[in-house]
Amino acid sequence: MPLLGYGVFKVDPKETERCVRDAISVGYRMIDTAQFYANEEQVGRAIAESGVAREDLFLITKVWMNHGDEEGVAKSIDESLRKLQTDYIDLLLVHHPYGDYYSIYRAMEKAYEQGKARAIGLSNFYDARFVDLAYHAGVVPAVNQLETNVFSQQNGMREQLAESDTRLMAWGPMGQGKNDFFNNPVLINIGEKYGKTASQVGLRFLVQQGIPVIPKSVSIERMKENMDIFDFVLDDCDMAAIRALNIHDKGTRDFNDPAYAQKIVSQVF
Ligand SMILES: NC(=O)c1ccc[n+]([C@@H]2O[C@H](COP(=O)([O-])OP(=O)(O)OC[C@H]3O[C@@H](n4cnc5c(N)ncnc54)[C@H](OP(=O)(O)O)[C@@H]3O)[C@@H](O)[C@H]2O)c1
Repeated sequence: MPLLGYGVFKVDPKETERCVRDAISVGYRMIDTAQFYANEEQVGRAIAESGVAREDLFLITKVWMNHGDEEGVAKSIDESLRKLQTDYIDLLLVHHPYGDYYSIYRAMEKAYEQGKARAIGLSNFYDARFVDLAYHAGVVPAVNQLETNVFSQQNGMREQLAESDTRLMAWGPMGQGKNDFFNNPVLINIGEKYGKTASQVGLRFLVQQGIPVIPKSVSIERMKENMDIFDFVLDDCDMAAIRALNIHDKGTRDFNDPAYAQKIVSQVF
């Protein structure tokens, strides 16, 4: 799994094909989409037209919670494969810890056994929900994709993940621009020492700790900026200053809030 990928959440389906083409052309090799993003078809077209061999790409998609039983989930995985124009997904994730996610995971385990998914894992699974699946499922989740950035560093979950051999992957690695991320004075000051921007420092902070990141941008210039993070090293003082920016260790979403759960589950596409 590469340390750097490109995410397409909230990329307009009309723009997705161009964006993914641009991302691949500037060097991204890992693409993160989801059934819910309603742009798998466009991602598949961009990949098919990119000229890059399928085995040189790492493709992630996520299963939504609206497919009913295991059979329905299995059909949805086949549908994702069709839309993405591939016969395997590199990493297939359960999108959210709501609904009958045991059936979702069981269908994903079958897809894994059949070679339709090279690895399977979770997204947004915290605490007991994570522990239950990680320790009682047949296939240990390879990855748990969580909101992770300088303001939400996931220190608590990192310990739990390390114990079960599940890798953390960072969604929202630039905090979706919230908390004035791109103008943060700590990130800007550190960046000035290395000729880097706030986004590059914030992304570097994660990859330097071995956490894969999947920044999203519709701009080819910002795509290039976000991948130019492998030619400098943050020192101990920089790391300590950035660690002090942590304000919501477990991310900004309250997964225990019934209203939030209801909002997520009611989203259909
Ligand atoms: N598993 C989940 O539940 C979940 C949830 C959310 C996201 N994700 C995944 O994680 C990916 C990344 O997260 P995200 O898209 O929510 O947030 P993000 O990557 O942290 O931030 C994206 C925002 O930052 C802007 N931006 C990007 N690069 C920039 C730069 N260098 N300078 C200034 N602005 C910049 C983008 O605008 P422009 O596009 O205009 O550049 C966009 O508004 C998603 O695309 C998706 O694949 C997963």
